[in-house]
Amino acid sequence: MGAWQQPSNADHAPQLVGSVTGYFLPDAPQTLYIWQVAVLNDARGRGIGQSLLRHLLANQAPSAVAEMQTSITSSNRASWQLFERFAQTLNAPTHVSVLFENEKHFGGAAPTEHLLTIGPISADALNNSTHARAVDGQEHASTRSMPELTLR
Ligand SMILES: CC(C)(COP(=O)(O)OP(=O)(O)OC[C@H]1O[C@@H](n2cnc3c(N)ncnc32)[C@H](O)[C@@H]1OP(=O)(O)O)[C@@H](O)C(=O)NCCC(=O)NCCS
Repeated sequence: MGAWQQPSNADHAPQLVGSVTGYFLPDAPQTLYIWQVAVLNDARGRGIGQSLLRHLLANQAPSAVAEMQTSITSSNRASWQLFERFAQTLNAPTHVSVLFENEKHFGGAAPTEHLLTIGPISADALNNSTHARAVDGQEHASTRSMPELTLR
């Protein structure tokens, strides 16, 4: 899913300012694994990351997602805050474990990756998320710093 922003000059094409990609784990088909979420430097801190996660979830079939997972390095504060805040909005518990270790798996060449699990995600939370998609226009209108944001 991408987040597109209309530049102030209406003659210019909408600009991609963020994206999220994910897939369902083959061995756990109700686990939505977030592969990557990224927002353009200048557009960060305005809730676009949250919106991308919410709308990705809202676009799945009812009951399709029981939990979400992603991997994060210790130092990525923005990413931890993004996902922990998202878990709060879903009223879902979180669990952290070590996925890949700095020395054992990367020979010291890359930092340890932690696996963050959000879930179980309740049906109510999913319904609310779906509702967020239904009120898409209002939601974006209330976000004054990015009035022309479209997620698709
Ligand atoms: C992680 C990332 C996607 C967040 O996107 P964003 O649009 O800025 O996130 P939001 O504006 O929705 O913010 C979500 C929460 O994170 C917090 N946050 C954002 N940037 C932060 C930072 N640098 N440090 C601490 N908290 C931060 C926000 O305050 C918000 O928390 P709050 O609701 O408690 O106030 C963005 O920083 C990014 O693209 N980083 C580089 C790519 C990356 O590391 N992706 C994650 C690994 S897959």
